[in-house]
Amino acid sequence: MKITIIGSGYVGLVSGICLAKIGHQVICLDNDQTKIDKLNLGQIPIFEPQLKELLSEVKSQDRIKFSSNLKESVKDAKAIFIAVGTPQDEDGSADLSYVLNVAKELVQNIKDEKLVITKSTVPAGTGQKIKELFLEINPNHKASIASNPEFLREGFAIEDFMNPDRIVIGCEDQKSKEVFKEIYNYFTPEKLVFCDIITAELIKYASNSFLATKISFINEMADLCEIVGGDIKKLSQAMGLDSRIGNKFLNPGPGFGGSCFPKDILAILNVARQNNVDLSLIESVISSNQSRIDKMVKKIKKASGGNIPDKKISLLGLAFKANTDDIRYSPAIAIATKLLEQKAIIQAHDPEAIKNSKKELKEFNNIEFFDDLYLAIKDCDIIVITTEWNDYKNLDLDKIKQLTNSRIIVDLRNILDSKLAKSKGFDYSSIGSQNN
Ligand SMILES: NC(=O)c1ccc[n+]([C@@H]2O[C@H](COP(=O)([O-])OP(=O)(O)OC[C@H]3O[C@@H](n4cnc5c(N)ncnc54)[C@H](O)[C@@H]3O)[C@@H](O)[C@H]2O)c1
Repeated sequence: MKITIIGSGYVGLVSGICLAKIGHQVICLDNDQTKIDKLNLGQIPIFEPQLKELLSEVKSQDRIKFSSNLKESVKDAKAIFIAVGTPQDEDGSADLSYVLNVAKELVQNIKDEKLVITKSTVPAGTGQKIKELFLEINPNHKASIASNPEFLREGFAIEDFMNPDRIVIGCEDQKSKEVFKEIYNYFTPEKLVFCDIITAELIKYASNSFLATKISFINEMADLCEIVGGDIKKLSQAMGLDSRIGNKFLNPGPGFGGSCFPKDILAILNVARQNNVDLSLIESVISSNQSRIDKMVKKIKKASGGNIPDKKISLLGLAFKANTDDIRYSPAIAIATKLLEQKAIIQAHDPEAIKNSKKELKEFNNIEFFDDLYLAIKDCDIIVITTEWNDYKNLDLDKIKQLTNSRIIVDLRNILDSKLAKSKGFDYSSIGSQNN
């Protein structure tokens, strides 16, 4: 099928390349010409494992094209996905301006029957808004509107797209349903969950809110363990073995971040407030997560003897999680900012997110970025692990002892072996245990 994806960011690009992989003829569109130029040269503007290889595979089969010309790109498409950003607005609601701008452009350029599908995460009622906008601009348009929210995780995006737990589809007529069946005919039909558009929109927000709640729950259990003397690793392992609970999203840490959870839970809260519905549980999750950063900074301060100014802190990790260069709402960046404001001297490392972080933290001159992990550690007073990259799981503790006199490690991701670190003479602290 001829498919056009509007917005070639983390979601649009992965979706486009994977749809090409499963046999469709895809055009990925973006209004950022630099991005399109790069993609046309076979370069990937973001970091996502395996994406470059998959792009060159589908390019060699002539199944994908990149363009910034909307009119030309949608002309022959049977299905058009909208995958532009829906960032957080000032009042916490989702900023729909990108989605609605695309919708306006689309209705002005669509001449025949087409299925217009929102893949961006949008609040309940957005599909209806798009329908009304289409009718207002062109009462005789021939497009159908649908919703197909995306659940991929950055860092595992291809794996998630190609092996989905479910594909949620909100559509309200048989013809649209048939188009979806054709788009996703690579997957077994049981994977497709059909519902109305509003329910599809809500499923995405509800899923992210639930996962965010799970993270905040285990973070609070970690706080409790630290005070009363439990071991969070054992606790989450034992909880996770209960099949009703499951072991995913039960790792304590510096709080959830990224481009989805923080903005999506604020957005669902906003929708609830506008409709006078009480989501007090979600409110608590937001405030619990917000308090995480100060707790982490306090932990670092305690480990460094109560003093932050002029301490040389080796900060390992800037991305909001491992295997991505995405720093949007990254706890690591929030922690770095607080430490920099308190006049710490930061030696930062991240395998992929340095370029984005340099822009984000450009107002500070007390931070230096290192491509080499061990140069970021050299001569530091304290090592703080903020992102769970594999490189940090296997830190060479003997090498560290030669590079710095410091023996303080604060592991905010619980990825090091505490016994090993201690046996090597390190003053090791982590999350959710007194006995580190
Ligand atoms: N990133 C994730 O892990 C993830 C997962 C699931 C859902 N989502 C949702 O998917 C949507 C996209 O997220 P993302 O992370 O890919 O965003 P992104 O910022 O990486 O990409 C959005 C792209 O849209 C382009 N764009 C904006 N306006 C445009 C226009 N008028 N015409 C053409 N292109 C335009 C931008 O240049 C950018 O390249 C959001 O709603 C997000 O909440 C994201």
